[in-house]
Amino acid sequence: MKKILITRRLLRACEERASKNFDAKLNSNDELYSQKKLIELSEGCNGILTSITDKIDEETINKLSDTVKIISNIAVGFGNIDLEAAKKRSIIVTNTPDVLTDATTEIAMLLILGAARRASEGIEQAKSSQWIWSHDFLIGKQLTGAKLGIRAFGMIIHYHNRSKLSATLEMGATYHDSIKGLFSISDFLSINCPATKETENIINAETLEYFPTGAIITNSARGDMIDDKAMIDALNKRKIYALGLDVYKGEPNLNPGYLNIKDVFILPHLGSATKETRTAMANLAIDNLDEFFKTGNCKNKVN
Ligand code: GLV
Repeated sequence: MKKILITRRLLRACEERASKNFDAKLNSNDELYSQKKLIELSEGCNGILTSITDKIDEETINKLSDTVKIISNIAVGFGNIDLEAAKKRSIIVTNTPDVLTDATTEIAMLLILGAARRASEGIEQAKSSQWIWSHDFLIGKQLTGAKLGIRAFGMIIHYHNRSKLSATLEMGATYHDSIKGLFSISDFLSINCPATKETENIINAETLEYFPTGAIITNSARGDMIDDKAMIDALNKRKIYALGLDVYKGEPNLNPGYLNIKDVFILPHLGSATKETRTAMANLAIDNLDEFFKTGNCKNKVN
């Protein structure tokens, strides 16, 4: 039976499944392992089931025992793992695409609505019992007819991608071949791209100037994409009307510059946090291990 290390506590049914398929080392206390501890615990293991909180950098990979042949990340993103270093050691890295699309879309919509309709301030007011209904109380921005966002809200969709999508996938959305083109028409921008060298700080002092004054930006992908200082300046100057974040740099430590701004609607990385989705993600990561141990390869390989 293959031996695997599971770095974080999973939902019970997923741990049971992993323990049935493998000789699995569980983390019952859900301790956040240091790199040193992770290396020690993976000694003699054939694979590691990782989560986004594990920073599997070059140094860690170089110190993993020779028995480790696969790192199966329970996430669609894999910025927490040094893919090149893994490749050099012939360790394959896999991810869990598609199964979290619906759950993360829900959070992306929640951010758009929460940021546009001043949900953070509204919640504070409601809890304080001090508010009085009035015609101009907490007036927000309506989504109807605004450019970009989500079809369900009747918005007009524009997008930027490395390449133009086929007409079937595009479903009438307008393609921009540059981020400048996209940002300049965006009343709302929803960030949903992977974190790469090219997308790091893609929202910065220069690109924030491209937006129409009063635009709303939401990020449910990775914190790496936003230069927080530039964003805080843009919010304080009212260039950007509101910001919705499910992810941010240095999680869980939010840049304190955001704390005094009313127009930010922030959640603690809840994108995939539903029972169905977390179960599907862990199961897919277990399937990835199974496939690799059986065939020596995996369709969800990312390196
Ligand atoms: C979640 O953040 C993921 O990448 O799966």
